[in-house]
This record gives sequence, structure tokens and C-alpha cells, in this order.
Amino acid sequence: MNEQEVINVEERLMANVYAKRPIVVTRGKGALVWDINGKEYVDCTGSYGVCIVGHSHPKVVEAIRRQAEKLISCHASFYSDVRSELLQKLVQIAPKGLNKVFLSNSGSESVECAIKLARKFSGKPEIIALMGAFHGKTMGALSGTWDKKYREPFKPLVPEFKHVPPDSLEKVREAITEKTAAVLVEPIRGEGGIRVPPDGFLPGLREICDETGVLLVFDEVQTGFGRTGKILACEHWGIVPDILCLAKSVAGGLPLGITIAKDEVMSSFRVGEHSTTFAGNPLVCAAACAAIDVLVEEGLPERAVTLGRYFKEKLEGLQARHRVVREVRGLGLMLGMEMRFDVLNIILKSMDRGVLILDAGRNVLRFLPPLVIEREHIDRVIITLDTVMEEEENERLRG
Ligand SMILES: Cc1ncc(COP(=O)(O)O)c(C=O)c1O
Repeated sequence: MNEQEVINVEERLMANVYAKRPIVVTRGKGALVWDINGKEYVDCTGSYGVCIVGHSHPKVVEAIRRQAEKLISCHASFYSDVRSELLQKLVQIAPKGLNKVFLSNSGSESVECAIKLARKFSGKPEIIALMGAFHGKTMGALSGTWDKKYREPFKPLVPEFKHVPPDSLEKVREAITEKTAAVLVEPIRGEGGIRVPPDGFLPGLREICDETGVLLVFDEVQTGFGRTGKILACEHWGIVPDILCLAKSVAGGLPLGITIAKDEVMSSFRVGEHSTTFAGNPLVCAAACAAIDVLVEEGLPERAVTLGRYFKEKLEGLQARHRVVREVRGLGLMLGMEMRFDVLNIILKSMDRGVLILDAGRNVLRFLPPLVIEREHIDRVIITLDTVMEEEENERLRG
């Protein structure tokens, strides 16, 4: 099939729920992808933050190949050598005290598990989330998500969810009642525009939760696995949540959701109360073991610090040159650039010039590149954005 044929088939046969970009991606390596016509792109989307270790990392590819030849499927009601290897690795990289794991298949599922677990452990129904939060689109996770456009068409959602203004400890304190099971937060809001909280907010939340006996749930689906310069973002603030959700990048590109909790919390689940057929199948576990090894051996979190600083400085350079840029923010290689207008044109024009960028809301450009990205790729992104922004500014001036 050629480019247009592929596009036609997807348009005709696939649910129309994704804001499609008109290229057909057929190959990837590190921080680069190529389309069906052989055109090269620097991938600052990392497949929505999935490709932390880069596209088709050779160690992940080899682990998948070897495991596929041995065993692909093994339901969690049987034991699996590679699953137990993964569990040990996960507990090693998790904050001390988080040592019981539920495996699933996506970020939303990892949040669903956290919600059920918080209710089961506490015997209470209420979950407090933040305005601006994004936790996924399955019914439970969606109930924690803030944006009206995702929620409204599907009401009634799961009851007993409350949203409070972000960054305000007072508002969280006011919202907690005797019915509250948990406070659910992303340490840095991703879809909500790459919002890093003020320094005292997350430690303050930990204190409030400790005082009130409410569980603290960190959704690190986007911030986790080295993205922000630490294996987990909670390490920046020295906090250990009671439940932590991971997904996106943890299996080197294959679907895996992880909910990891304190033993006493996870142990409140009884046999049969939560499960999923694919949970921790050997193929995904082998990929995840390889991805964790790559993350640690290649020092990718440290790379996110160095290259994140470099990238951010360059973006700030653009801000100094272009009045259309309002703010640059983020941590490690989770970066956002807020513009004074809708960013769709910038995204499409950058794509034409070989750079893939995400949005985060209407007016924020979001950069979630693989952590193996090179300086020269970042330079290409900056040169492209410089040109595109100048073009946009000129077009706006003309009319
Ligand atoms: C913080 C956060 N939580 C949950 C999700 C949902 O993950 P998934 O799309 O894998 O269901 C996302 C997805 O972007 C996310 O960023």
C-alpha cells in the first residue's frame, strides 16, 4: 500500500477518535522515525512518551525475539520465570517501601487498579484529584481526569470523585472528609500543559495524607521511568506515595501498566477481586526487563538531566527571540512551551520540516523525546521551530 492507501483504510475502518497527523510511520531507530516515503523525522513525541529507551532499542528487540521463540502467553494464575525477574527489577527501582505489584496493559488500567485498591484498603469511596489532571479515559480513570471535553459525553461517571484547584494544600485539606480514600495526583501534570508544582506542594500533600490517614496515589504514567531526570519523579521531592502508577515506557514500547503499592495496601485485594487476562505476559515482561536494564546501564535519567537542561536553554533562547512564546517549563526531558496562540499550525509545519512535536492543550507545545536523543537532533528541532515561528509571526502580522 502507498501512503494515501494506508491513510484511506485507517480513515474508513478505524474509530475516529484520534487527531490524526497525515504521515505513515514505518520505521524507527533511537530518536528518529521514517515515514513510508523514507522521509526522516526527529521524534519529540516519543509515541506520546512511550519510547524512553528509543525506538526499537536493540536490547529490547533481542529480548522480544528470544522470548517470542520460547513463550508468548502465560496467564498470571501460572508462575512465569520472566515475570518474576521483572517483579524483582521493579521493586529494585521503586522507592523503598513500595514492594507489591499489579501488572496490567495501559496507563488507564494502572490508575483503575489504584482507584479500586484505595477503596478496598480504606473501605471509603471518595477520591480527590486535581483540576487540570489527566489520568486516562476508562470510566474510573476518566472520573479522575479533569477536562470537560473528555468527561461530559460519558456521564454519569464513577461517583465520589472531587477535583480541587492544583497547587493549593489548603484546598486539598478542605476537601478531605471522613469518606476520603485517596488523593490522586500526577507529580507533574503532562496533558494539563507540563505544569511543575511549587516546591512545597507534593511534600505538603504527603504530610496531609499522613495526618488524615488518606492514601497518596502518584500517577507517574508520564513522568516515570527516567523522563524527568530521576527514575521516578517522586524522588525529586523525596516522597514515597502509598500507591504508584506506571505505564507508557516501561516495556520499551510494548503495552504494560504497573500499579505498585505498599505491601499492606496491595494485600487488601483478595483473590479474584482484580485481574486481567494479559497481565504480565512473558513477552511484555521480557521487553520490560530489557528496558529497565537499558535505563540503568545507559544512565538515561542522568541523560535526561543533561540533555533536558540543554533543550530547555535552547527553548528559552527561542522565547527570547519570539514574542509568541509565553513560557518554557518542565523537568528533565519532559518539556513544555506555552505559546500565545493555538499550536496546531506550528506542529503541522514542523512535521513538514521533519520534526514531530506534541501538544498539551490548545496552546502548549510538548516535548517527550526518547532519552537517547542526541544534541544534534535537539539542534535540528530548535532550528526548525525558529523558522516555523518566524513564518507564523510574519503570517500573523500580514493578517
Ligand atoms: C498521567 C497519565 N495517566 C494516565 C494516562 C493514560 O494512559 P493510557 O493512555 O496508556 O491509558 C496517561 C496518558 O497519557 C497519562 O499521561
